Amino acid sequence: MAIEVTPLTPVFAGRMTGIDARRTLAPEEVAAVDAGMARYAVLVLPGQDITDEQQIAFSRNFGPLQNGANATQRRPELRLDPAFADVSNIGKDGTRLARDDRRRMASLGNRLWHSDASFRVIPARYSLLSGRIVVTDGGNTEFADMRAAYDALDARTKAEIEDLICEHSQIFSREQLGFTEYLPDERAMMAPVRHRLVRTHPTSHAKSLFLSAHIGGIVGWPAPEARAFIRDLAEHATQPPFVYAHKWTQHDLVIWDNRTTMHRVRRYDDLNTIRDLRRTTTKSDGPTAEQVAA
Ligand code: OGA
Ligand code: MN
Repeated sequence: MAIEVTPLTPVFAGRMTGIDARRTLAPEEVAAVDAGMARYAVLVLPGQDITDEQQIAFSRNFGPLQNGANATQRRPELRLDPAFADVSNIGKDGTRLARDDRRRMASLGNRLWHSDASFRVIPARYSLLSGRIVVTDGGNTEFADMRAAYDALDARTKAEIEDLICEHSQIFSREQLGFTEYLPDERAMMAPVRHRLVRTHPTSHAKSLFLSAHIGGIVGWPAPEARAFIRDLAEHATQPPFVYAHKWTQHDLVIWDNRTTMHRVRRYDDLNTIRDLRRTTTKSDGPTAEQVAA
């Protein structure tokens, strides 16, 4: 079957057909997905009715996987293999998480614009999100193109931010929502990591803004000034012309490049409906900045 991509906005995001994620891919097919990702940054592959094993095998075509389970998800509570980020609203027994469940409160961080795993020294490259059970009312996933957002900055701002280094931690994103209750070992796992604010894509050489709700500071800047500036940049970068809103159909497989996009989920009635989305994540090429010992 011929591989085709239809653009979803004038700027980025495409709908790719002609790939069967259940099968072993030929090298040309892997290359076509990578080329589509370099061009569109977000690809929607409809009709991919895959198992967890198939999702893992398909994802491995694009590099080593990063564990999706994070510090507030305790091993015995995991519903899925730790390779997955469980972005559903259900627990191991298949019932909806209660309103005050810690896991639910921590996952509300996904409502803020972010780049996956930007709080890790080696952040995420691709995220692959499979829609197993989707909701029709709310629950869209929105994506913003950080290349177009970078390009639209004025020359003075581009020069000012070129070498800035930001500090990222899940502590920073969650404190924005008032979530601060951590167990002692969790806090230690969330020490801030450093990343460049401007990244250059290794193959397309396009520059992009590496923004994320996980940012809590800029190295060398007073914290409030850094946070106010990061907010300004994020507001600029998520204006409607840079955004694609994905309305889910069951068995959509959506792939995005965390190096060049941000995303967020919109509100839905998670106390009364079930939404089961499962994410696998590949690792980025390496650290984007030198780290300091905690
Ligand atoms: C994610 C995420 C958004 C969603 O999987 O990384 O942020 O729509 N999910 O659930
Ligand atoms: Mn995410």
